[in-house]
Amino acid sequence: MHTINRLTELRQQVREWHRQGLEVGFVPTMGSLHDGHLALVKAARARSDRVVVSIFVNPMQFGPGEDFDSYPRTLDADCAQLLPLGVDAVFAPPVREVYPDGDQLSTRVEVPGLSDILCGSYRPGHFVGVATVVAKMFNMVAPDLAVFGKKDYQQLAVIRRMVRDLNFPVQVVGVDTVREGDGLARSSRNAYLSAEERETASQIYATLREAAEWLKAGPADVAALEAWGRERLDGRGFRTDYFSIRRQADLQPPAPGDRELVILTAARLGSARLIDNLEVSLPGPLA
Ligand code: PAJ
Repeated sequence: MHTINRLTELRQQVREWHRQGLEVGFVPTMGSLHDGHLALVKAARARSDRVVVSIFVNPMQFGPGEDFDSYPRTLDADCAQLLPLGVDAVFAPPVREVYPDGDQLSTRVEVPGLSDILCGSYRPGHFVGVATVVAKMFNMVAPDLAVFGKKDYQQLAVIRRMVRDLNFPVQVVGVDTVREGDGLARSSRNAYLSAEERETASQIYATLREAAEWLKAGPADVAALEAWGRERLDGRGFRTDYFSIRRQADLQPPAPGDRELVILTAARLGSARLIDNLEVSLPGPLA
């Protein structure tokens, strides 16, 4: 497994693999790796001949006052976890390699309609930062396939749309959320929780599950269920940003006839902002 910091070296390596007719799978990350990331790496490994994992804490997707400076950086431990999974290259560039002109960047990738709703309305500019860095990474790595987690459901939707709209020759694969025993989605940000908050945090998935059961049980008042979810989380000590039921395909509010839904939530607990979601396939079309 090579650790590559320079773009020229990365390009040379991938060009060589492509010349040999090998397919390259790519897993973009910000490091501080846990089992959720490793599930993406295994999915990439199973689907491609060579696997590149990027580790890059992307300044452009953090807002002022967010945790860019304190975001955990654990490159050596990350590489130790990737080695046994058969990763071929870790791309860990310095910021200058990705943003040669610093924050003077002028070209940005925006996905209107998807990047300004849900988390986008609480984190202005976040998804422009994500879409821009993923577009840059796709141009740098030139992968045939890229793997993302459903944990960040809106991020996955933004990237799928960007890939379609900009004709990136990349197959996007989504992988199910990896959870702790009590249902809490694995996240680097769980480290910000105190022991007591960590216990409370399991309520997010419990509330999503309960809402999903109500939805599946039959004629559902979507707005009332959203209000119930928010109140329930607030009642357990969260400050809930949103608890929303949307269509899987475009994250818009559901319309009569829809069946493939997803419940998404973002809630703050102590200094952590936690997100989670649950896909729901209704037994019949929504009334
Ligand atoms: P990061 O938070 O490091 O996540 C990297 C990838 O791991 C994302 O695709 C995310 O959805 C996935 N992931 C995180 N926790 C997961 C879990 N519990 N189960 C399954 N997958 C999980 O997301 C980012 O980095 C960045 O925005 C990035 C795409 C790298 C762009 O900077």
